[in-house]
Amino acid sequence: MARGKKIYEGKAKILFEGPEPGTIVQYFKDDATAFNAEKKDVIDGKGVLNNRLSEYFMTGLAQIGVPTHFLKRLNMREQLVRSCEIIPLEVIVRNFAAGSMSKRLGIEEGTQLPRPIVEYCYKDDSLGDPLVTEEHIAAFGWATQQDMDDILGLALRVNDYLSGVMYGVGIKLVDFKIEIGRVYEGDFQRLVVADEISPDSCRLWDLETGQKLDKDVFRRDLGSLTDAYAEVARRLGVMPKTSTPTKPTLVN
Ligand code: TMP
Ligand code: ASP
Repeated sequence: MARGKKIYEGKAKILFEGPEPGTIVQYFKDDATAFNAEKKDVIDGKGVLNNRLSEYFMTGLAQIGVPTHFLKRLNMREQLVRSCEIIPLEVIVRNFAAGSMSKRLGIEEGTQLPRPIVEYCYKDDSLGDPLVTEEHIAAFGWATQQDMDDILGLALRVNDYLSGVMYGVGIKLVDFKIEIGRVYEGDFQRLVVADEISPDSCRLWDLETGQKLDKDVFRRDLGSLTDAYAEVARRLGVMPKTSTPTKPTLVN
């Protein structure tokens, strides 16, 4: 086993020291939480699916020149990533209104937005990850103006990539959240897409039926979460060779 000491345990993942300096082993748990962990459950197989799906998206991003922290998948639940300093922001990109934006602005879920809208939340569980503006980010020094330009560029490139990949398998990318890390290379630093990209951090709706294939299935009690995630994996051709059902039965 390549992993060393535990560094951090979050709601869905555990980070361990990696085999070489500058590397981290990211372990995907089966724990699902929503509403800042007010709702929790353990969903058998979720970690395995998210490990695979995040590998798939991060690898695809690297292939089109978007830098990520991903190095390689180690096993069913673990991947090796570059260690980076996480910028304390949740970067959200929305193509269609849903979730907190629909609530906040009274826009019906599913309404197409005139253009992708990027939002920032300050990563602090004790505050419930509040929405912030670039003014807060600059004033409190969470990121520089150069970082913000780079973050916006990365977020929009991830949006184009993910929207296209999803569209190709009959899924609408409603919105998603990414986290950005700083990697130091000598005197230089660059920003990379970090954390994970999975149905935990996206809203994915079937193009034809509108069926939800993301964590809203858990948040809103809409049926089996692993069936939904397995369906995404199956369509993308990354279905792991496990006991996850080959013909998922989805409940809307
Ligand atoms: P929201 O509509 O609840 O603000 O969520 C926007 C997107 O961000 C949605 O795709 C789900 C994702 N998200 C996370 O990944 N983590 C979170 O803690 C929250 C609140 C949302
Ligand atoms: N990830 C957050 C939590 O655990 C919120 C969410 O995804 O809905 O509570």
